[in-house]
Amino acid sequence: MYRLSLLLSAVIAASASPLNASCTVSSYSDVSSATSGCSTITLESFTVPAGKTLTLKLKTSATVNLVGRINFAYHEWNGPLVEVSGSKVTFNGAGGYFDGEGANYWEGHGDTGKTKPKLLRIKTKSGSNFNDVNIINCPRQCVSINSASDTTLTGWNIDVSAAGSLGSNTDGFDISSSHGITIRNAVVKNQDDCVAINQGSNFLFEGLYCSGGHGLSLSVGQSSENGNPNTVQNVTFSDCTVENSRNGIHVKTHKDAGTGSISDVTYKNIKLSGITNYGINVQENYANGGDSGDPVGNIPITNLNLQSVTGSMSGDSNSMAVYILCGNGGCSNWAWSGISIYNAKLSNSCNFTPSGFYC
Ligand SMILES: *[C@@H]1O[C@H](CO)[C@@H](O)[C@H](O)[C@H]1NC(C)=O
Ligand SMILES: *[C@@H]1O[C@H](CO)[C@@H](O)[C@H](O)[C@H]1NC(C)=O
Repeated sequence: MYRLSLLLSAVIAASASPLNASCTVSSYSDVSSATSGCSTITLESFTVPAGKTLTLKLKTSATVNLVGRINFAYHEWNGPLVEVSGSKVTFNGAGGYFDGEGANYWEGHGDTGKTKPKLLRIKTKSGSNFNDVNIINCPRQCVSINSASDTTLTGWNIDVSAAGSLGSNTDGFDISSSHGITIRNAVVKNQDDCVAINQGSNFLFEGLYCSGGHGLSLSVGQSSENGNPNTVQNVTFSDCTVENSRNGIHVKTHKDAGTGSISDVTYKNIKLSGITNYGINVQENYANGGDSGDPVGNIPITNLNLQSVTGSMSGDSNSMAVYILCGNGGCSNWAWSGISIYNAKLSNSCNFTPSGFYC
């Protein structure tokens, strides 16, 4: 009898132990004890105070379940509003979401108007996974993957469509100084690049749906962040759809940036519709954030391969299916096949011809 009651109390104690209140976070002040003490953390709804970052510096192999709405008190600063770091971590958007409440900031000027916070910075590594994360109303850039490696994002939903014409620089995913990043089955509705790769290597994007923005982009030469050179190598975009956007595919190098390179980039099975400016735009004349005169080959683009890029432009007066502007010696070894983009108003313009393609 004594033994039985001992056994019973042991069973009760064991079943009670997962109810560690400090591992369920429902206020900002409980975050740091949870991240330092807990291997599984549940984030319920709370507001992050003005000018603070929700810092999730996770224990190795920790799991976070985002079940509530996290919002952020208004403050004009650069952010990020949330930063996640750690090794082998799992982050599940378990029905919850980050709400950047961009309506308090949007005024149509993006990076240049009032100072707006970036939303989420990811710097995880060693086999980390983010599943089904929901982000809405980014004041400006939504997700910055920076100094991360071996990290996979699956089933994300980023929605800044509420900004309409007041949204600007609301990039979906920006990637710099990172290696081994995979993004699968994500939806991005915004007003700037769906994905923009600045630096790094070994990237795979599969099953993205992009709407309202500037397309699937490589933008190389903006910075030499963390002392990393302006290089991008081994990138694949596959089975992606870009709708009602300025560009479908946009590869640009900055002529005012010193040296660097882009190599081994493949876009395959990309479907376009309602593209207003360029279906495919490769330009080596970016400077000071815009198109700028004669192109320069300071950041050469080699092995840019396109397979099956199809669909339609919007028919707007500026719409062009394919635009290629290479600097002297700036472009080599491109193989393109299955390019079929209709309903453009302007003819293609190319100063370099990829093999397999007639401009
Ligand atoms: C519960 O949380 C505290 C404080 O965060 C931590 O020290 C402790 O290890 C946790 N216990 C369990 C069983 O997770
Ligand atoms: C290219 O990147 C992909 C995705 O990270 C990776 O699976 C592949 O091994 C890389 N290829 C090379 C040659 O490194």
